[in-house]
Amino acid sequence: MKKPLSIFFLTSEVMPVVKTGGLADVSSALPQALSSGGGGEIDIRIGTVAFRGVEKKSGFTLVRTFVSRTPAGPLTIRVFEGRLAKGDVPVYAIDPEGLFDRPALYGEGGTEYPDNLERFSLWNHALLHLPAVLGFSPDIIHANDWQAALSVPLLPHVIRPRTQTRPIRTILSIHNMAFQGVYPLDQWHWTGLPPSYNNFDGLEYHGRLSLLKGGIQFADRITTVSPGYREEVLSEPGGCGLSGALRHRQDHFVGLLNGIDDQEWNPATDPFLPVHFSRKDLEAKEILKQKLRHEWGFLSGPSTPLFGVVSRMAHQKGLGLLAETLGNLGASGELPGDWVVLGSGDPKIEDRWRRLRESFPDRIHLRIGFDEALAHRIVGASDFLVVPSVYEPCGLTQMYAMRYGTLPVVNPTGGLRDTVEDQKTGLWMEELSGKGLGDALMRARALRLDGAEMEAMRKRAMGVDSSWKSRARDYARLYREALDAPSWHNPPG
Ligand code: ADP
Ligand code: GLC
Repeated sequence: MKKPLSIFFLTSEVMPVVKTGGLADVSSALPQALSSGGGGEIDIRIGTVAFRGVEKKSGFTLVRTFVSRTPAGPLTIRVFEGRLAKGDVPVYAIDPEGLFDRPALYGEGGTEYPDNLERFSLWNHALLHLPAVLGFSPDIIHANDWQAALSVPLLPHVIRPRTQTRPIRTILSIHNMAFQGVYPLDQWHWTGLPPSYNNFDGLEYHGRLSLLKGGIQFADRITTVSPGYREEVLSEPGGCGLSGALRHRQDHFVGLLNGIDDQEWNPATDPFLPVHFSRKDLEAKEILKQKLRHEWGFLSGPSTPLFGVVSRMAHQKGLGLLAETLGNLGASGELPGDWVVLGSGDPKIEDRWRRLRESFPDRIHLRIGFDEALAHRIVGASDFLVVPSVYEPCGLTQMYAMRYGTLPVVNPTGGLRDTVEDQKTGLWMEELSGKGLGDALMRARALRLDGAEMEAMRKRAMGVDSSWKSRARDYARLYREALDAPSWHNPPG
């Protein structure tokens, strides 16, 4: 019988509190899978931010107020407690004096909030004080991305090793190397770390401080979200400047493929869909498509392929290239199929899409914004989901699409290469260029016309098991491995 494990999972995003991308999905689905038996007995609790409106979320209530020591002096911290939508995993949403009571999580209008170092540092300090306040003692602190990375070097300075009954180990999971939490060194005081960390072997990074680097240097184990992306970030440009730090930790760094919540994303029961379908009976998928076409006023006939996009509008996602390629194809009368596009982000990319829609108003339908229900309907109704990412740590939308018999058309990079099989469960671009993308779209259109092959690929894609059930076990193994090994971070004193 394996010993029970206690995990404190720190994440700036989790459904139902706040979501800007896939981190929020992983932060609910992975803990939920771990707590329901995916790897032995695990008591997992989530620490997140008290984003604006958290007290109005169903099941969230103010359970505690405490005063935390922080670099800003003693700070009053409110703790809202709720549960994940399924299962019994506690979620603690921490409010350091209103710092997350804002319209957005990281910034507005394409600009980061100027006090992000202060906000996230104080949040990390408060989170590390929380177990003692609530009376639980984690074996593992599992920190996600730069936002929670400070907790890794900070841990032994807040929770003193000699006062603990059991030593705590740390795991850092990196969901995207492009976001590192890098700030001027004159703001060092916000970290609350001793000056001995302000050097090349600590958080110092080209004359600035890097929170992600601090996590990489001191975590007992480091993960990223696919094996393919792990390989890419061990050299440049994939490592975004930190490949050297990662190579230094290579033996303690693994790529564990993300899974999906196959209940949340299930075409047979999805509450966002007006009709349901399954691998055995795909008829209702056509009805969904007709409904969406009708609602959005498409003029072309039902046999025209329907391409969907659900994405952050960021350089990473290749949506600038997609808009440009569609503009060129459209200008020569070759626009493949009809398009339903949902996304938001970079104002320049949003504008590029607005202009494209104006050029082809009855072929391209665009919704700028974040809309969970529409995301499900687009994934459900489309023939193809287009994901031409420049790089992709894992990517979840292509796995959601496959489960809905919607074939992903992808640039085979990182997790997209690991999850989509060319010509079997989706289509790969041959190169990341207008030509590579245009050719892949033309192949998709031809495939749609060849009904039999399309049907076979759809069924194959729907048969792929991407659920967290088995993948969560890799994390459970890693937790135990870290606990059995000596601590990596041994601060002086
Ligand atoms: P990333 O985390 O890099 O944005 P992922 O594919 O891992 O990419 O996850 C994206 C998640 O965000 C998916 O759940 C996707 O459905 C969702 N999403 C992205 N953009 C939107 C949007 N505009 N509206 C609703 N959901 C969105
Ligand atoms: C990041 C990555 C994405 C990944 C997600 C969840 O947002 O960009 O590829 O799927 O995190 O791990």
